[in-house]
Amino acid sequence: MELIDGKGLAETIKNEIAEEVTQIKTVGGKIPHLAAVLIGDDPASQAYVRNKVRSCEKVGFKSTLVRRPATITETELVRIIEDLNDDDDIDGFIVQLPLPKHINEENITLAIDPRKDVDGFHPANFGRMALGLPAYLPATPFGIIQMLERYDIETSGKHCVVVGRSNIVGTPIAIMLSRKGKVGNCTVTVTHSRTKDLKAETLRADIIIAAIGRAKFITADMVKDGAVVIDVGINRVDDVKARRGYRLKGDVDFKKVAPKCSYITPVPGGVGPMTVTALLMNTLKASKKSIYG
Ligand code: GUN
Repeated sequence: MELIDGKGLAETIKNEIAEEVTQIKTVGGKIPHLAAVLIGDDPASQAYVRNKVRSCEKVGFKSTLVRRPATITETELVRIIEDLNDDDDIDGFIVQLPLPKHINEENITLAIDPRKDVDGFHPANFGRMALGLPAYLPATPFGIIQMLERYDIETSGKHCVVVGRSNIVGTPIAIMLSRKGKVGNCTVTVTHSRTKDLKAETLRADIIIAAIGRAKFITADMVKDGAVVIDVGINRVDDVKARRGYRLKGDVDFKKVAPKCSYITPVPGGVGPMTVTALLMNTLKASKKSIYG
């Protein structure tokens, strides 16, 4: 069993990005600039956004944090997005999800200029991704692809089972892995809450992508010997002994599943750090205008 060190790989890629930023500064080019919009005070969202802003600083990007209370109206939020769309210094921006219930996430996503949509959530980017055209790839699937590529894990002809069909992970990773490409050419099965016999499906998998959002959901009896297991879960599980009163647990019962795997990602230190790094990669692409010209 080999552990996929997402944290270490994320550091390596961030160093590569930092080097490129240094080069850009040397020639007097434009410093990449990411903005993040954070609505309300959900602790997990605050932590994610803090991490994104800190990562920008680490690689030498500019960053702007726009914070508003959960009482903001949809119209006010759309106005903020329009201002970010029009701001020439900002190369890309994200609106952290989830949003308060009175705000329609679809309307917000549609308000973002696809050229600045470094989350890859806008239908224009999602559609381009599905067609294999240049696009901002959603950060978590993009991070997973990077891990598979840099660890030289064969995907061509492999059977990949995706557990979960969310718009931001399950559905896009299923499309990306099924397409032609250096990492791709998989036969993909997407499973979800209505799947009849989940265990029968996961037992057939050479590669399992667990993106269900439930701690220890994937157990050892569901995994074939030698499988590659990518754990996308970041579940907060109460633990009075932990410093913060909770521990982060993946969707996979790591202790029991790991001995069966050829490769597995830990939580924390696996997919999470790669997601942030993928966002930085998209922001660098935005500043170089390499997707839309
Ligand atoms: N909430 C959970 N994951 C994400 C993400 O990748 N981007 C944004 N904007 N919100 C999220």
